[in-house]
Amino acid sequence: MPRSLFVTTALPYANGPLHIGHMMEYIQADIWVRFMRASGHVVHFVCADDAHGAPIMLQAEKEGISPEELVRHVALGRPECLDGFLISFDYWHSTESPENVALSQEFYRSLRDAGLIAQRTIEQFFDPVKGMFLPDRYIRGECPNCHSKDQNGDNCEVCGTVYAPTQLIDPVSILTGATPILRASEHFFFKLSDPRCLAFLRQWTAGPHLQPEVRKKASEWLVVDDSGQSQLTDWDISRDAPYFGIPIPDAPGKYFYVWLDAPVGYLAALKAYFESGKAKEKTGTTQTFEEFLADATTEQVHFIGKDIIYFHTLFWPAMLHFTGHKTPDMIAVHGFLTVSGDKMSKSRGTGISPIRYLREGMNPEWLRYYLASKLTSHVEDFDLSPEDFVARVNSDLIGKYVNIASRSAPFLTRHFEGRVADVGQEPAWLGLKASEAATEIERDFMARDFARALRTVMAFADAVNQLFDSAKPWELAKAPEQAEWLQKVCSISILAFAHMTLWLKPVLPALAARAETFLRIEPLNWTQRICVSQIGTYRHLMARVELSAFDRLFAPIEESQKIVKKAEKPVIELAATVTIDDFAKIDLRVARIVKAKEVDGSDKLLHLTLDAGEGRLRQVFSGIKSAYRADELVGRLAILVANLAPRKMKFGISEGMVLAASGKIAEDGEALFLLEANSEAKPGMRVS
Ligand code: MSP
Ligand code: ZN
Repeated sequence: MPRSLFVTTALPYANGPLHIGHMMEYIQADIWVRFMRASGHVVHFVCADDAHGAPIMLQAEKEGISPEELVRHVALGRPECLDGFLISFDYWHSTESPENVALSQEFYRSLRDAGLIAQRTIEQFFDPVKGMFLPDRYIRGECPNCHSKDQNGDNCEVCGTVYAPTQLIDPVSILTGATPILRASEHFFFKLSDPRCLAFLRQWTAGPHLQPEVRKKASEWLVVDDSGQSQLTDWDISRDAPYFGIPIPDAPGKYFYVWLDAPVGYLAALKAYFESGKAKEKTGTTQTFEEFLADATTEQVHFIGKDIIYFHTLFWPAMLHFTGHKTPDMIAVHGFLTVSGDKMSKSRGTGISPIRYLREGMNPEWLRYYLASKLTSHVEDFDLSPEDFVARVNSDLIGKYVNIASRSAPFLTRHFEGRVADVGQEPAWLGLKASEAATEIERDFMARDFARALRTVMAFADAVNQLFDSAKPWELAKAPEQAEWLQKVCSISILAFAHMTLWLKPVLPALAARAETFLRIEPLNWTQRICVSQIGTYRHLMARVELSAFDRLFAPIEESQKIVKKAEKPVIELAATVTIDDFAKIDLRVARIVKAKEVDGSDKLLHLTLDAGEGRLRQVFSGIKSAYRADELVGRLAILVANLAPRKMKFGISEGMVLAASGKIAEDGEALFLLEANSEAKPGMRVS
């Protein structure tokens, strides 16, 4: 039965670019989502910017723009990173959106109607210069316990004591340096201390939707003492103006605390996605947002980091439950990623910048693979070490998996025109146990134990490589009577490679797509049998990663610019400026390649016969042989420089030139791509 899932990752604060910790969360969730989709389930995968709160308001002020502007600006930078790392979100929204305003206010009204909102006057520190109440992190002072100076508003970094900011000795506002004063103000609270809440949460947190270690943590927060009291106190959900947030209904000058409207943002994103028509377009669903949400078979899954467990196992389920919504079916909590032992935090995204990683031309799938090889279903921290990264990618991914295709394909191409022998189903594959491995891998992906799934894939790859080695195809290839055996061994390797491609596809979607093209098969999925009968020419599927790539990543920004300058590398040097009239002199036409053949005596050129809609055919000698086989070009629509002076070459006259892009891809050396027109274009069309 196909399952119907609503999956989110935590909404990142919209005060800056995404850091590598965010990317690890998105990659983890994306791998799971891709796996579920490939298994035939319907997944709606959404996220949004978390736009509200005092830090964003103050940062915008510092930059001299409105918070709305800051948030819009940050949002513009998201796609480069998300698309760059192949994260398959269906929709990206913002908590600063009409959907979220309406839903958050609805949640509030509904909680108020249930008698779960209280109003109380509390005293808080107020910055008299700035004219605003101060969040704890904006107050510093002397620790009341060990008397260390300049400590946080809520805990001492020297002795570890936790206190209220009002206990600090000589407190100062870090915004203005003023001494904060105590001021009374009315606040709104979600009455978590209500016995109904405690009863509900004790039952909910004991359920199967939490990992054991998370369940344990949540239950500790809910321990009841002899007097029937737990640590769970009423939750302050209001903030006073000035604040960047959503207004509380019927309470002028009061706003929801950012953590009230942030999780509601999950639903707002889903709503906007459904109402945009995209959900229907992508999955064919006919349900409305409301129907989907109310549907008992819909599963709601949140991927989050361990620092926000409290919000997602207590506040959010309680908010959902007491407003008549379904509660989450799974909270998938991960640990923290450090880079070379350095802790990253919300405020200090150290280590590797994901954008810079991409801009340096590093392959996003290296990171996806590396992280997947570390991720388990448990809340475990782990460290990204460059040496380890390079070893995993080069020796496992390339040395084991990619290697299988790169060594077996040439034999099939050279001796059997790429035909893959029918070797039957797997039990006959000389002892390789593909279906056993598949069962384990499928189970482990489902349970989010990616590390284990990849270990199984790599053990299988070892077995395939051993089989290949022991058959010694390079010797078989010299003995004509061994041809059948040679084809069989290589065909089994290629089939095994196809199976591994399916297994790795959630982690390496782009590599898998290239492998599918090479294998000449439809996109692989878990519901169909894998059949390969004819392979294309093998082109290198993935480059190795060099340790030196990390030097550029880690260097501080200025440093990296220096490196760039020194090497005078990525700066693209453009040719001299031309005018539009200069450009118009070049007559570019769409031309169909009607014939293509190799040129005797040239290892660079292909001889193309082109139809440019002129009522005659042209011949062009083109230096694209390194990248294309003649037969795969026939029928394609190229772009021809049609008024180029004919040139006499050793092999004949070349009447024009076809356009191709060439240059460095990743670390992979040179590559070349023929420029093609859309298949509906017609020969002779002018290109301008
Ligand atoms: N805005 C809140 C979440 C609201 S969800 C309704 C928030 N934002 S955040 O930008 O600080 O963090 C977003 C996610 O990134 C969280 O799940 C957090 O745990 C995760 N990570 C932040 N740093 C991380 C690492 N160093 N490693 C792994 N995940 C990390 O919290
Ligand atoms: Zn102290």
